[in-house]
Order: sequence, then structure tokens, then C-alpha cells
Amino acid sequence: MTLEALSPRDAVTAAVPRHVALIMDGNGRWAERQGRARLEGHQAGTENIRRVIATFQDAGVRFLTLYAFSTENWGRPAQEVEGLLRILHEVIGQEAASLHRRGVRIRHLGSLERLPRALADAIRSSVKLTQQNIGLQLCVAFDYGGRAELVDAVRAIVASGVAPEAVTEETIRAHLYLPDVPDPDLIIRTAGEQRISNFLIWQAAYAEFYQTPVCWPDFDPAEVSRALDAYSVRKRRFGRLP
Ligand code: IPE
Ligand code: IPE
Ligand code: MG
Repeated sequence: MTLEALSPRDAVTAAVPRHVALIMDGNGRWAERQGRARLEGHQAGTENIRRVIATFQDAGVRFLTLYAFSTENWGRPAQEVEGLLRILHEVIGQEAASLHRRGVRIRHLGSLERLPRALADAIRSSVKLTQQNIGLQLCVAFDYGGRAELVDAVRAIVASGVAPEAVTEETIRAHLYLPDVPDPDLIIRTAGEQRISNFLIWQAAYAEFYQTPVCWPDFDPAEVSRALDAYSVRKRRFGRLP
């Protein structure tokens, strides 16, 4: 598979990140601050995804990766894990058709093996339904961990029988979950923590990092604009001199 060619619009708006990755954090705190159950925060956070996708799409972003459920999130109380899986299953059912109509291509990164079968099937069918679309690529990190991704890559490389001295950075990239997706230009984390929490650890090597105290359910289109404005004035040097 090849990358889509950049449209003329990308050329004139070079300050727009091609790929934005989102650590959607703070659903629980958002709910607790209002005396509500954490799962209500997850529900509100899930509903927020729709308006945010449209805003990034309108701004000219081509790839959007959402951190929806990490390999570490299995360690939460069973009731929260079950609720999260149920809410995420519902949203796929509700949104896949309308994303498809808007030309969005849904992709998954992570493992489907530990998910309930119906949820894994729903993810597979939304990926299949939208696989020919050429609009925004919406990459959903679901049961995803950056370390697990690297372990899976190393296993596949070893199994391929390649000679150790032939392994390069490109070999590793080619064995990541979505090898054709470019590295994120901008990683946004809501709710104030300043850490990567096992997200895209290989791909984030030169990403710009933006964090805001705003909790995910309140991260509205105005917040999206603030993040994109902040990105537009960053000086990316990649280790070189300007
Ligand atoms: C992010 O919100 C959603 C997931 C991790 C699935 P949290 O549930 O982590 O919310 P806080 O960080 O506890 O507020
Ligand atoms: C990161 O948030 C994972 C997702 C947003 C899915 P967490 O709330 O799980 O991360 P920590 O525990 O604060 O590092
Ligand atoms: Mg959190």
C-alpha cells in the first residue's frame, strides 16, 4: 500500500500537522468532579470524539490516531473495563456508517485477541467497510501498547529469518502495526499529565508534544484550534541546526 499523495491544500498549509495523535485522558476526573460515575465520563468522552474528528478533518489533518484503550487499562476494576468495552462497542456501531459516508478510513492498531469476540468483529468490519476510503485515516489504538507493538515487531522480524546485521530502522518500521502511516507530527494529551503512557513510543521520536489541563470531554473545537495554533509556531529541527 502506498501513501496518498499530498493534496495542493497540504502544500499551502504546511503548518498543519499531517498526523495528530490524541491521548484522550481525564474522563474519570471529569465525571468525579461533578459527583458522577466514572463511566459517565467515558460516555461523555466517547461522544466528544465525533465533533473532534470533524474539526481535525476540516483543518486539513490527514491522519488522526486515538488512544482509546491501553494494554495497561486491563488493570482497572472489572466493572470499569467492561463498561469501557461496552461504550466503545456502541460507538463503533453508531459511527462507522456515518464515518464511511464522509470518506473516513478506519484502521486499528493493537491486539484484537483479548477483546470480546463481538467487539473484535465490529472493529474488523468497520475497517473492512472503510478500507477503500481516501479521506481522513482514523487510527484507533485499542488494546494498544507501544512496548507490545515493539515485541510483536521483533517477533515477526526474528521469524522472518533476517540476518541481525541486515536489521535497520526501516526493518522495525515495516513491522509496526500500521507501517504505512507516517509518524505523528503532534501528540496532544488532555487532563494535564505530562507523560506518554506507552503510546506510540517508536513513532513519537520527533513528535511535538502539546498538553492541556482540559479534560477530554471538554476538549472542544476551540481547544483543537488552540492546539493546532501552538503547533503552527513550533520550530522542528530534528537534531539539526535551523
Ligand atoms: C481516559 O480517561 C480514558 C481511558 C484511559 C480509557 P481516564 O479514565 O484515564 O480518566 P482519569 O485519568 O482517571 O481522569
Ligand atoms: C492513557 O491514559 C491511556 C488512554 C488514554 C487510553 P491512562 O489514564 O491510562 O494513563 P496513566 O495511567 O495516567 O499513565
Ligand atoms: Mg487517565
